[in-house]
Amino acid sequence: MLRTHTCGELRIDHAGNQVVLTGWVQKQRDKGGIVYIDLRDRYGITQLIFEEGVTDPALIEKAKNVGREFVLSAKGEVVERYSKNDKIPTGEIEIRVSELAVLNVSKTPPFTIEEETDGGEDLRMQYRYLDIRREAVRKKLELRHLMMQKVREYLTGEKFIEVETPYLIKSTPEGARDFIVPSRMNEGEFYALPQSPQTFKQLLMVAGLDRYYQIVKCFRDEDLRADRQPEFTQIDCEMAFVEQEDVLNMFEGMTKFLYKEIRQIELEDFKRISYQEAMEKYGSDKPDLRFGMEFIELNELAQGKGFGVFDSAELVVGINASGCAEYSRKQLDALTDFVKKPQIGAKGLVYVKWNEDKSFKSSVDKFFDQAALEAWGEKMNAKPGDLLLILAGEKDQTRKALNELRLEMGERLGLRDKNNVVPLWVLDFPLLEWDEDTQRYHAMHHPFTSAKPEDVDKLDSDPGNVRANAYDLVINGVEAGGGSIRIHDRELQAKMFKTLGFSKEEAEDQFGFLMGAFEYGAPPHGGIAFGFDRMCAIMAGEESIRDFIAFPKNNSGRDTMIDSPSKISSEQLAELGIDLNQKSNS
Ligand code: AMO
Repeated sequence: MLRTHTCGELRIDHAGNQVVLTGWVQKQRDKGGIVYIDLRDRYGITQLIFEEGVTDPALIEKAKNVGREFVLSAKGEVVERYSKNDKIPTGEIEIRVSELAVLNVSKTPPFTIEEETDGGEDLRMQYRYLDIRREAVRKKLELRHLMMQKVREYLTGEKFIEVETPYLIKSTPEGARDFIVPSRMNEGEFYALPQSPQTFKQLLMVAGLDRYYQIVKCFRDEDLRADRQPEFTQIDCEMAFVEQEDVLNMFEGMTKFLYKEIRQIELEDFKRISYQEAMEKYGSDKPDLRFGMEFIELNELAQGKGFGVFDSAELVVGINASGCAEYSRKQLDALTDFVKKPQIGAKGLVYVKWNEDKSFKSSVDKFFDQAALEAWGEKMNAKPGDLLLILAGEKDQTRKALNELRLEMGERLGLRDKNNVVPLWVLDFPLLEWDEDTQRYHAMHHPFTSAKPEDVDKLDSDPGNVRANAYDLVINGVEAGGGSIRIHDRELQAKMFKTLGFSKEEAEDQFGFLMGAFEYGAPPHGGIAFGFDRMCAIMAGEESIRDFIAFPKNNSGRDTMIDSPSKISSEQLAELGIDLNQKSNS
C-alpha cells in the first residue's frame, strides 16, 4: 500500500501517529513562513503543513512548487491544529510532513474542482474524469451505488433472481427508435440493442423463474432531455401468477424501503388515481401532487355570455392560485407570455382577481359582471385574495398548457419542495392511442400489455376506449416507473398485433418466438420497470439524471470525452458489408 490512511479518516485521536497519505492537491497556500496543502482523495481532505524552522527547507521548497491536482504522497506526523476547521471532519488535525513525493504532475485543470465549479456543462463532460473528482458529482455516484445495493437487498429478500438478458437482440418496441448493430457474420443483417428486456423477461416467466429482476442498460434512440439518456438503466422486474394489485404492493414496498434506508423517510401509502382523473384534474399523466391547484372546468358558467374565445372553446378550465390576487400587471403579463410560448401554445390567459375588498377584477370585465365572476370563484373554491387563471381551447391542448402553468405557479409559490416526497400510482391507462400521422393505433404502453377484462370485448368495436392493466409510478411529477399485466395467451396476443396494424406475417416474423412460447404453458404474469437513473435523481431531489451517470451523453447524443459516435474505417465497413454510398448511388 502506498498509504496508511485515507484523506478522510484522521482525527484528533490519531495525534502523534506517523502516517502516509496520498491524494491530489486541492489547494496550496504559501503564507510566507508556512506552506499549507489541502490533499484530497475520495474520502475527504486533509491539511498538510510545512513550517519554517520545523520542516526541512528543501521540503518547503518542494511544497511551494506543487500545483493544483498534482498527485502526492506525504509522510508525516498527525498533529493538532492551531486553528481548527469545523467544516470538515479532519479539521482538528494536520500532517506535519517529513517526506514528500510527487507521484505525478498535472496540467492546470480546465475548471475548478470544487463544490461550485466555474466549468460549463460541455467542458465538464469533456473532462468528466476531472468532474468526478468533485465531491458533488462523486456523491451522486455513491448514492447510485447505495441504491443498487438496496434494490438488490429488497428484491433478493423477496425471492427475485437477477438474470442477465442479451444486448444483441431483435427489436423490442417501447415507442422509440432502435439502435442497430450490423452483424459481420451475417452480412446484411442487423441486431437491435434492447429498448428494454421486455420479451426476455416474459420468456423467463414461461421458463418458470417466477420472480425475475435485472439492473440493466436499455437503449433508445429518442430526443434527449434532462431526464432522458439514449442509454439508461432500468430496474426491470417480472412476476408470475400475479394480478395488478400484487405488483403494485410489491413495488410500493420497494420504493418505501429505498426511501427509508437511503433518506430515512417513512412514506405513507401511495395515492392512486386513474389516467382519466389525472388528465382532467392536472392535465398530465404524471401529476406533481406535492400541491393541489386542481383544474376546475368552467364551460357551464363561462360559455354563452358573448365572449367568443370561451364560446368557441371545447374546454374552459382554470386553476386557483391561492393568495395571488396582489399580482401586478407585470407579473400577469409574464404569466401570459409564459403560456403563449410556442412549446406551451396557449393563445392567451384570462385572469380573475378576487380582491381582499371582495370586488373582482378580470381581463374579461367587458363580458362578465361581478356576479358571474363570483360564481366562477365559488366553483373554484376561491376566496378573497385569490387569483383565478383560466385557459380555453381544444381539450387536450388546453389541459396540457394548463398543466405547464400549474407547475410554473407551483414553482413560483415554492410548493415544489424537494424534501417533500409524494408518490402516486396512475392506473387504468388507455390500451391504445390513435396516431394521426400513421392513421392507426399504437400501444400506449407496449403491445404485450393486457386489456382490463371488463373492456376486452370493446377491442373490436371501440378500441380507443379499452383500458389497460397498466400502471405508472409517479414521484413528484416524474414518471419513475411503469408496467403492466401481460397478455399470456397466443390468440389474444395475435389479436393485439392485428389491432395494431401488423399483418399476420409481420407479427409472426417479429414476435413469433413469444407467441410460440405462449403455447407451452405461459403463466399469467406482469411486471414493472423503474428508470434507475431517474430513481437516483428523484431520491436526491434533483431534476437531471446526468450526474447520476458516470459518463453520460450530451443533448445531441454525443460523448464529447471519447468523441463518439465517430466514423469507422472503410476496412471495417467493408467487413460488415456496408456501402455508405449505396443510398446516394441508388
Ligand atoms: P417504460 O418504457 O415505461 O417501460 O420504461 C420504464 C421506465 O424507464 C425510464 N425511462 C428512461 N429513463 C432515462 N432515459 C430514457 N430515455 C428513458 N426511457 C424510459 C422511465 C420509465 O418509467 N418494458 C417496460 C416496462 C414493463 O412493462 O415492465 C418499459 O420499458 O422512468
